[in-house]
Amino acid sequence: GLPRDLEGLHVVVSAGGTREPLDPVRYLGNRSSGKQGYALARVAAQRGARVTLVAAHTVAIPDPAGVDLVHAGTAEELRSGVLDAAADADVVVMAAAVADFRPTQVTEHKIKKTDHDPDPVALTRNPDILAELVAKRAAGQTIVGFAAETGDASGDVLTHGRAKLARKGCDLLVVNAVGDGKAFEVEDNAGWLLAADGAERPIELGSKARLATEVWDAVVALRNHGATS
Ligand code: PMT
Repeated sequence: GLPRDLEGLHVVVSAGGTREPLDPVRYLGNRSSGKQGYALARVAAQRGARVTLVAAHTVAIPDPAGVDLVHAGTAEELRSGVLDAAADADVVVMAAAVADFRPTQVTEHKIKKTDHDPDPVALTRNPDILAELVAKRAAGQTIVGFAAETGDASGDVLTHGRAKLARKGCDLLVVNAVGDGKAFEVEDNAGWLLAADGAERPIELGSKARLATEVWDAVVALRNHGATS
């Protein structure tokens, strides 16, 4: 069986992609399926944690056993769900793909097709939930971010990941290479695990459950020894 090394901890995981409405039937969204976040929640529950899973839009995935599930549509809703649950959390993992922008106007009625060119869609910046978590972090809380980066070479992805870790101020950052059918929607994931103390290691291509296991191993090591290795 799995180690029960998350027993006694409350962990919060966000999953899926937010949808930002334009009108009653249309939205801006992204390709996140929720599979990575659900795998993180499932593995944490199997290792003994009390788990709150805050889920934005996902494909159909069975509810993980023994997990408190909170649904969120937009980035604003995901923010409230995550911040509420994070108030007494020991670990927060942000695997959700949160829209950075939302349409400034949400029209009450369906936008009509016209003969002239449509007006451009004005966008407003969404709150950065991970940055807010870091700013409000309680003593002893561990915060893990994910980063979806495109790049021509793995070097680009890592360079962007390192900059994002420094900017966001979380304890661990999982950097996924995306694009070309990688990470989003598929069953497998790979990337790099970057720690605030400068430790870096590759995560080989494998199931999202395996990546989840490596993330929880790193969280446990960080909490018990102050370092990931
Ligand atoms: O859902 P799947 O199909 O299984 O795919 C998994 C995944 C590729 C979506 C996942 O592994 C992943 O990488 N999630 C993060 C994707 C992302 O939005 O990355 P980002 O670089 O835009 O954001 C960086 C971090 O800030 C993330 O932890 C994100 O949750 C967080 N964020 C981003 C924007 C925002 N407004 N608020 C946030 O908290």
